[in-house]
Parts: sequence; C-alpha cells; structure tokens
Amino acid sequence: MRLASCFNHADFRRLAERRLPGPIFNYIDGAADDEVTLRRNTESFEGCDLVPNVLRGVEEVDLSVRVMGQDLAVPFYCSPTALQRLFHHRGENAVAAASERFGTMFGVSSLGTVSLEEVRTKHATPQAYQFYFHKDRGLNRAMLERAKNAGVDVMMLTVDTITGGNRERDLRTGFSIPFRLTIPGMAQFALKPAWAFNHFTHEGFRLPQLEEHVDTSQSLVSISRYFSEMLDQTMNWDDVAEMVKFWDGQFCLKGVMSVEDAKRAVDIGCTGIILSNHGGRQLDGSRAAFDQLAEVVDAVGDRIDVMMDGGVQRGTHVLKALSLGAKAVGIGRYYLFPLAAAGQAGVERALSLMRAEVERGMKLMGCTSIDQLSRSNLRFR
Ligand SMILES: Cc1cc2nc3c(=O)[nH]c(=O)nc-3n(C[C@H](O)[C@H](O)[C@H](O)COP(=O)(O)O)c2cc1C
Repeated sequence: MRLASCFNHADFRRLAERRLPGPIFNYIDGAADDEVTLRRNTESFEGCDLVPNVLRGVEEVDLSVRVMGQDLAVPFYCSPTALQRLFHHRGENAVAAASERFGTMFGVSSLGTVSLEEVRTKHATPQAYQFYFHKDRGLNRAMLERAKNAGVDVMMLTVDTITGGNRERDLRTGFSIPFRLTIPGMAQFALKPAWAFNHFTHEGFRLPQLEEHVDTSQSLVSISRYFSEMLDQTMNWDDVAEMVKFWDGQFCLKGVMSVEDAKRAVDIGCTGIILSNHGGRQLDGSRAAFDQLAEVVDAVGDRIDVMMDGGVQRGTHVLKALSLGAKAVGIGRYYLFPLAAAGQAGVERALSLMRAEVERGMKLMGCTSIDQLSRSNLRFR
C-alpha cells in the first residue's frame, strides 16, 4: 500500500499502522477508558442528514472563512497535537508547510517537538499556540510573552486536560516520554526498522516549548509527571480572565462543552471557544462536540467564534458542523496518520482530499459560499 492508493482516513490509518511501531500508532489511535467517546465523535455525524438544494449555479465555490481574526482559505484547520516528530522526523514543520499550502491555520502544541519560533519563521500561515496552565504563574507569563514575541496569532488554552486521561493502550505498551516500554512494546519497535532509522538519523527529539523551563533531558520528566506535577489543577475562571487580559489578542478556550462555560468564556473576554473532548482522550463518556454544537451556538454564537473538533474524517462532516453554526472545524488524527505515513506529502494529500470533498459537497448542496450553509440544510433522524 502506498500514499497514492490512500483515498480516505481509513486508508491513511492503515498505512500509518504499517509504518509506525505499535506503541506510537496506539498513542495516536487510542483514547480514554473504553473509547466510547472516540467512537461517538465520528458516529455523531451519522445521525444527521444533509438536505441539498439543486439548480443553483455552483460552478465557482468559495471555501474561505474568517475565524478568530484569521482568514482561512478552507473551513478546517490542523488542531494542535503533541510529539509530531515521533510520528515523522519532520513533524510540525511538515504539518505547518502543508497548512501553509492550503492557506489554513496550524496549532503548535505546548508538547510540540519543533519550537513555535521556528514554525513561525518558516511558515507564513495563521499560527495558534496551544497552552497548558502551569502552577508557576511566572512561567505562564514568560511563556505568553515568548509566544507574543514570536508572533503567534491565536492563543489557545486547553481546558480539558486538568489531569491526564486513562489511556489503557499506552499503559499496555508502556508508551511514555521518555520511553519506558514493556517487553512487547520494545519488540514492536524492532519490527519497524525504517521508522527507527529515520528517527535516529535526524535531529534529536526535543520538547522546545518546555525545555527552557523544565528539565526535559532526563528520565525524570515524563509527560505524565508534567501533567501531574507542573500543571495547575486549581486553575479557575479568574486565572484565565487574567491571562486573557495579559495576552490582549485573539484568545480561545479549547475543550469547553457546556453552555454555562461558553457564556463565561464570553464574559471574560475570550474571542473563541473550541467544543472538543480532546479526541476522546480525556473524559470517556463525554458528549461529542457535534452533538453539543447547536445549543452552544444558540447561546453564544453571536458573541464569540464557536469552533469544534473530534471525529472529523470527511468533507461532509465539516459541512454538517458549519451548517449548525461552527465557524471552522479542527482535524486531529485525520492529518496525523498521513503525517506518519508519508510526512508533508501525506498531510498535503489528506488536506487536498478534504478540500475536494468539502468543495464537491458544497456544489452538491447547492451552495457557493460557506455562509449559505444553514440549519435548513440539515435534518436529524
Ligand atoms: C496524538 C494526539 C496528540 C494530541 N495532543 C494534543 C495536545 O498536545 N494539546 C491539545 O490541546 N490537544 C491535543 N490533542 C487533541 C487534538 O487537538 C484534537 O482535539 C483531537 O485530535 C480532535 O479529534 P480527532 O483526532 O478525532 O480529529 C491530541 C490528539 C491526538 C490524537
């Protein structure tokens, strides 16, 4: 199987599975507990049908949107995800370059493996910085200042990760950073020498967003210890209100789900919220963002940009979310598997297929611009 024979998410996933050592594939693919929310995220789109209009003259379609002050050529963007250079040696640089080619936003994770400055300098595309809130308030301010100086466009505070999710696939394989693999986990690495060759013959693995502030060189700082010891579980709305003021620019909360929280985000001056359950990796049994979208849009959609992510694998998923009122839609695993399978070329192929699907779907729906999508195009079963 080769990249050219990948036509959808399932194909990219299969190719990534062939190329990645098992523990890394399962880190991407897996989710919390029984992975109920992971499955529901994609299934949620299936309870909703599109109702097309015809004979509308749809030769030219404009897919552009403006969200959080950024002009995007397509209504989907690459959500921030951790550890990308473990999946492919070019990591964030490959995803950011592909995002730039498609005119869309790229999110750099706090647990990113390329520095936010490097991504900013090399790729002229809207850049979000995904932030975790640390106990050390001085560190938070220093990191915000660093992002400001780098020219980050959108601050994205993840609020659904106050403690790590229970990812049992990782417990079984021993996946952690640094690796503390079980014997079967180690054997999986031995089976993928091409991955190992690429990984070990390129620049060493780093966590540049953190290394100035945390000793990431030694086995003592594992990602789970980062979550349990450095992040602040007392974080509350007053803390975030202060951050929003300090940032003084586009600021969104990633992982808001309730109407009550959406309203509070408006009250403290956020300019966006992302409905998300972290790809099912945190609270299993939590609602899918698509299921929750309408009530949040109804409550705050006229005052704040509402986005969503989770389970998006098709252009029609994007169209359904936009029809309900999302301003843009985030993708995660949809670009991570192609990254693992084929680096930048893989991500470009995935984004190209997604763009073609959205455009084709728009034409078949009888719409020539995103603002023509509305709830009148949808019926729930
Ligand atoms: C491997 C992986 C790593 C992730 N790392 C982060 C992260 O560092 N910060 C964050 O806010 N979200 C992270 N996410 C969540 C994504 O930003 C996004 O919410 C999720 O992937 C959307 O679901 P999807 O994968 O079904 O598209 C990660 C997701 C995956 C799959």
